[in-house]
This record gives sequence, C-alpha cells and structure tokens, in this order.
Amino acid sequence: MNDKFKKAAVIGWPIKQSKSPLIHGYWIDLYGINGSYEPIALSPDDFKSGIFELMTQGYQGCNVTIPHKEAALNIANSISERAKAIGAANTLVFKDGQIFADNTDGIGFINNLKQGAPNWNAKSGAALVLGAGGAARAIIYALLQEGAPKVIVANRTFEKAKQLAEFFGGKVTAISMNKIPDIFRNTQTLVNTTSLGMIGQPAFVVDLATLPKTALVTDIVYNPLITPMLKQAQGLGLNTVDGLGMLLHQAVPGFEAWFGVRPKVDVALRQIVLAG
Ligand code: ATR
Repeated sequence: MNDKFKKAAVIGWPIKQSKSPLIHGYWIDLYGINGSYEPIALSPDDFKSGIFELMTQGYQGCNVTIPHKEAALNIANSISERAKAIGAANTLVFKDGQIFADNTDGIGFINNLKQGAPNWNAKSGAALVLGAGGAARAIIYALLQEGAPKVIVANRTFEKAKQLAEFFGGKVTAISMNKIPDIFRNTQTLVNTTSLGMIGQPAFVVDLATLPKTALVTDIVYNPLITPMLKQAQGLGLNTVDGLGMLLHQAVPGFEAWFGVRPKVDVALRQIVLAG
C-alpha cells in the first residue's frame, strides 16, 4: 500500500556506454522493487535544469557520470565529506526538495577488495597507487579512511602525483615512475588506476617479482577482466582482485538510498554486466 513507484536515473553526456542501467535493473528485478532506473543524456548546458526537472517529476535521485561529476557538487544543498574530499560526486539523492551529493567510488573500491580478498587489510602496510587522476583521488581517500599507514602515488606526470600528495598531506607521498621498483618490497596493496592495460592500450610494463608474497594487486581496468598486470601477479602467486567489482559496489549506496534495499553484488550480476 505504501509502495509508491520509485524512479532513479543515470545522467551523462553521452550516456549510451553506461553500465549503470544494467546493474540497477538487475537489482530492481531481483528484489521486486516497484521502480525504474533509466539512462538520460543531458548536455552540460542542460544539466542543472534537467536535474531540477527530475526532482519535479518525483525522482528519488540519480547517478551522474562524465562530464557532470564536478557540476553535481555545485547544485547540491549538502555534500558528503568523501565527495568534498574527492571533489566530485557520482550519486545524488533528492529529499524534500533538497539535493544531497555523495561520491561512492572510493567505498566501492574498498568493498570490492573486501569481497574479493576477505583477508586483505588496508592497515597491513603501504599502498602504491599508479596514476593520479580522478579515480586515484577517490581511491587514496578511501585507503586512508580504511587506515592505510602510508600511500605512495606514482604518475607519468609527476606534478599531478605531487599535487595529490600535497592535498592529502602526511601519509601520502609522490614518486616518479622510475622509482616504482624500489618501493615494491614495502608495498602491501598495489593499485593500477591508469588506463594502461585496457583493451586497445599498452600494458603497464613493470616486474612485480619483488612485491611481498602477502601483497594484493588490483586494477580498476575491467576490460579485459584480467589485465596483463593482474595476470603477472597471478603467475607470481599473489592475491588479485579485478576491477569489475568496483563498478558494481559503487552502485550499492545509491540503490539503497533510492529504493530502500541494500543490494548484494553477486556472480550473476557480474556475468550480466560482462555480457552487456
Ligand atoms: P580517471 O578519472 O579514470 O582517473 P584520468 O583523470 O584521465 O582518468 O587519469 C588517467 C590516469 O592514467 C592519469 O594518471 C594518466 O597519467 P597522466 O596524469 O600523466 O596523464 C594515466 N595514464 C594514461 N595514459 C597513460 C600512459 N600511456 N602511460 C602512463 N600513464 C598513463
């Protein structure tokens, strides 16, 4: 009786490539939700008015993707600490005519590791993050929140790694790419956030042999699922987690806020998204 039809969406420009409708559509069916989740293309010029239109139409909220992740912060009435720190939002929740902006990329990254490698613990040692873009920023924030004692950022453009280290302060330091092998011995978590290893891109060429046997290697690239870096790590007997789960886990908080059910990331969802 109280089950009113609930609507959510993902907003981007373009939007065709988004996997979010597959993810949320799967959960809507699985949990028998009386609701919908649709892709909506909005150009940057139309973003603000489009969001207000969704609110007028009674939407619960939406995901926002490229190129609106920063603009989403500007139209929000309140912003989570993590979205502020990351400087971008991917999830908006509408309530009583107000917009709450959140960023779930970092927590999606962490929850993917917790599911894929239950013994992994951020506190166990230093993390080495390859890349210094938006994804790296969200991941560094989340690793620090999880208690990583030290995070080292390496990036092709050293200046960008330095800026991230300065932004986060104390526990985060920047190194240049050629210093990476020197610090492997003390690395417990290795994360590739660059686009290297993706289909059509060269691999990230580095010898992982000096990583401790207890190290975890993960990649945010999920196409292919097993990137050359993950393949090498597996060959060395290291623990690995692929990047698909980050995409799936980042969707959980939005679904819960809009539809009132905390959804599970399961094998069937992985298969649907991989096939889509
Ligand atoms: P995202 O938001 O997904 O992090 P991004 O902001 O475009 O995307 O960042 C891409 C990252 O991949 C950057 O760290 C980039 O390095 P630069 O800052 O030097 O551009 C890294 N990257 C992309 N192509 C690369 C390549 N061929 N070699 C090394 N790093 C590369």
